Amino acid sequence: MEFDFLKKELNNLEQKDLFRKLIAIDSAAGTTIRIDNCEKILFCSNNYLNLAADSRIIAAAKQAMDKYGFGSAASRLISGSIKPHIDLEKKLADLLGKEASLVFSTGFMANLSILQSIPQKGDLILLDKLDHASIIDAAKSSDADFRTYHRAQYEKIENLLASSEYNRKFIVTESIFSMDGDFADLKKLVELKKKYNACLIVDEAHAFGCFGETGAGLASELGLLNEVDIVVATLSKSAGCTGGFVAADKCVIDFLINKARPFIYTTALPPANSAAAICAVEIIQNAQDRRIRLKENSDYLRARLKKLGCNTADSTSQIIPVIIGDNKKTLELSRKLFEKGFYVSAIRPPTVAPGTSRLRISLQSEHTKQQIDSLCEQLAELI
Ligand SMILES: Cc1ncc(COP(=O)(O)O)c(C=O)c1O
Repeated sequence: MEFDFLKKELNNLEQKDLFRKLIAIDSAAGTTIRIDNCEKILFCSNNYLNLAADSRIIAAAKQAMDKYGFGSAASRLISGSIKPHIDLEKKLADLLGKEASLVFSTGFMANLSILQSIPQKGDLILLDKLDHASIIDAAKSSDADFRTYHRAQYEKIENLLASSEYNRKFIVTESIFSMDGDFADLKKLVELKKKYNACLIVDEAHAFGCFGETGAGLASELGLLNEVDIVVATLSKSAGCTGGFVAADKCVIDFLINKARPFIYTTALPPANSAAAICAVEIIQNAQDRRIRLKENSDYLRARLKKLGCNTADSTSQIIPVIIGDNKKTLELSRKLFEKGFYVSAIRPPTVAPGTSRLRISLQSEHTKQQIDSLCEQLAELI
């Protein structure tokens, strides 16, 4: 095969300034990283609490590697669950105040697992238009129907929930939207789910660790955790590890263990990852100081960007977009920032809607005011 059809499509992407390429990083993830022997200040990672290279987590992983080796050798249903996985699930269930939890290789697979197995033919999945790709792809591959709403369209949501066309209804939302950095109206969604006896599934990928007194997420911060039927989150962002998880009633978790193909037919995560995640969760539970610093950094940068006249959408979190619009202009800005020592990636369609390309700035608790100020100074010159 010549793959001409692929080359043509790649060419097309280049013409539209939508071609993506990988950049090699040769250091641990912190507020700075090394690329081609140059230090860059990193403003686009999800390492919100700076735990990805935390020495306590590394020590926990090393200790587990000494005991259990590195690979996990098979799927958990085939050759047994190594103890750190079980211990981690107990810890996560306790933190989320749910009966049980289950860990998956990634957050993507956690979303796939839920929506491919729990909603069934004749059911309806309701998605926010800006839900993450893993939620959208999961809904597409479910036997249930799915419909999308924009988060302010409560009348549309309500009409769909009231429809007698479907058996069960599932509302799936992110708590913090990954590209705009704004919050879902969880209070309103809880109200609606109660009124129509629907199931509320909340993906806390960007809130886990960062919100709530113990880092359990936005629902916890708002006192709504008991009303959320199924919580999904990832261990790959604020926890600085890898893997996704679901926390819910025990029957939901048992069902996933029995039916979720992305759980059943894949090799378990390395035990050292779970041991590291246990350590990360323990740190997160007591990381109120980091959460406070993260919020201070976010409020500080948002205020400075607004003063510069930047469009930061409705951001209220550590994710702050600077909407540029044009793909080429966004790429150019990202490239110029890079030359000046800042790594801020250009986010373009299809990750965001056409005409809304942006610099997606994400903050870490350990960014210094000086680092944030220097980014703002560069942006003031470039924008
Ligand atoms: C909202 C949301 N859900 C799920 C995921 C997937 O998580 P993971 O990186 O663990 O696959 C992401 C990651 O970007 C995300 O932003």
